[in-house]
Amino acid sequence: MTATDRPSSPYHPYAGRFDVHAAMPEEPISREQILGELRQMSAEEDHKGDTGRVSGSIYSGDHDHYALLTEAYSFYAHANVLQRDMYPSATKLEAEIIAMTADMLHGDDETGGLITSGGTESLVTAMLTYREWGRHVKGIERAQVIMPVTAHPAHEKAFHWFGIDVVKAPVTDQYVVDVDFVREHIGPNTVALIGSAGTYPHGLIDPIPELGRLAIDHDIGLHVDGCLGGFVIPWAEDLGYPLPPFDLGVPGVTSISADTHKYGFSLKGSSVLLFRPKSLRRHQYMIIEGWPGGNYALPSMGGSRSGGLIAATWASMLHLGKSGYRAIAADVFRTADEIKAAVRSHPELTLIGDSLFNVAFRATPGGGAIDIFHVNDALTQRGWRMNGLQNPPALHFCVTKPNTQPGVTEAFAVDLAAAIEYAKDPPSAMPRSGATYGAGGVSPDVDQMRSAIIDRLDAIHEIGPR
Ligand SMILES: Cc1ncc(COP(=O)(O)O)c(C=O)c1O
Repeated sequence: MTATDRPSSPYHPYAGRFDVHAAMPEEPISREQILGELRQMSAEEDHKGDTGRVSGSIYSGDHDHYALLTEAYSFYAHANVLQRDMYPSATKLEAEIIAMTADMLHGDDETGGLITSGGTESLVTAMLTYREWGRHVKGIERAQVIMPVTAHPAHEKAFHWFGIDVVKAPVTDQYVVDVDFVREHIGPNTVALIGSAGTYPHGLIDPIPELGRLAIDHDIGLHVDGCLGGFVIPWAEDLGYPLPPFDLGVPGVTSISADTHKYGFSLKGSSVLLFRPKSLRRHQYMIIEGWPGGNYALPSMGGSRSGGLIAATWASMLHLGKSGYRAIAADVFRTADEIKAAVRSHPELTLIGDSLFNVAFRATPGGGAIDIFHVNDALTQRGWRMNGLQNPPALHFCVTKPNTQPGVTEAFAVDLAAAIEYAKDPPSAMPRSGATYGAGGVSPDVDQMRSAIIDRLDAIHEIGPR
């Protein structure tokens, strides 16, 4: 059944505009109609990100670059890279992506890697690796990992799935991990520490050299989550920005993740996970002998994988080159500086740390006057999409390439000033926005309401109200 008269909902704005397909059509729909609908929806949806008023989410926004990536993708979209006898080019492309990423992050001959489907898979795989390493090498049955409270929740998926105990380390008043706390909580079952470069909430870099020393002293792993920052902060040093050591150049770092589908400017669905020594990688290989389907051996979580994303990622890295990444990073850092200046110009707001690329700010503590989510409400009305944070309540503006276009920071400064005025005298005491990850700070009824969040997760998998 198809219908254009279905009611729309916040999650189903196209009901009423396009047919809703609750079952496959009996007869084929034309290529023109299919591509036409997709073209229309994607153009409308891209518009917001392309204007430069969105934090994070869209990293490149350059449609010429996308055209290159999708063409590269198209050659291998159908190829299953598990079948290396059929697609030996996958080894060339994959190994070169790993090598180029390792070179950027100060890896050495002992560095090896994997390509995964994204940051979450990279982090989960790293945690599995350390659990297995602890078992095989140290005889630790119940592994424990120490994770800063600001580290990404994808780590917690691994703890939940793989039965790993976690100790959550607080952050200092500088919002980076409290190393003293970490030191005091390393125990006989600790297999690894985590640090971020930079953190999702505040874009800050944990003290990786100090964590590295602890890792060496206790003969345990140290994973650096560079999923967000891994392809943008490496260029800071060349550009004259202060950059603390954070990567494989730091003794004690045994793995690092960097997402090619974020500041690597590839298509969604790819990330690189590097190990040093590369023998660590083996602890998560999966080899099952004796299966009637044949001996089964896989290097990572996934089964069949498309060669398309590997080709697109390879094309992105080669086409931009170091100079291309460096030039975009320069624009990102300059834009972040301008946003920080706008925030600093208001005594009602306070920056959280001083990130190179991901500017977090809150209502000035003790300033008393405003709720940061009222500021967000007013920014939203003016077409901005910030990310809402909590503990403390704050917003971040994660600067990506679309935000670097002319006029964006000037418009932000004007709208931020207006948003503060709005927040001083809001129309209702309760702000409309809050801190729900992935919802851009907008969460109509879900503030601290787990059941409403679960309803939303259900709703985005349904075809909509009937
Ligand atoms: C620091 C950090 N780590 C990991 C992730 C998870 O990445 P993904 O959404 O690609 O799974 C993110 C996502 O924003 C992140 O910011």
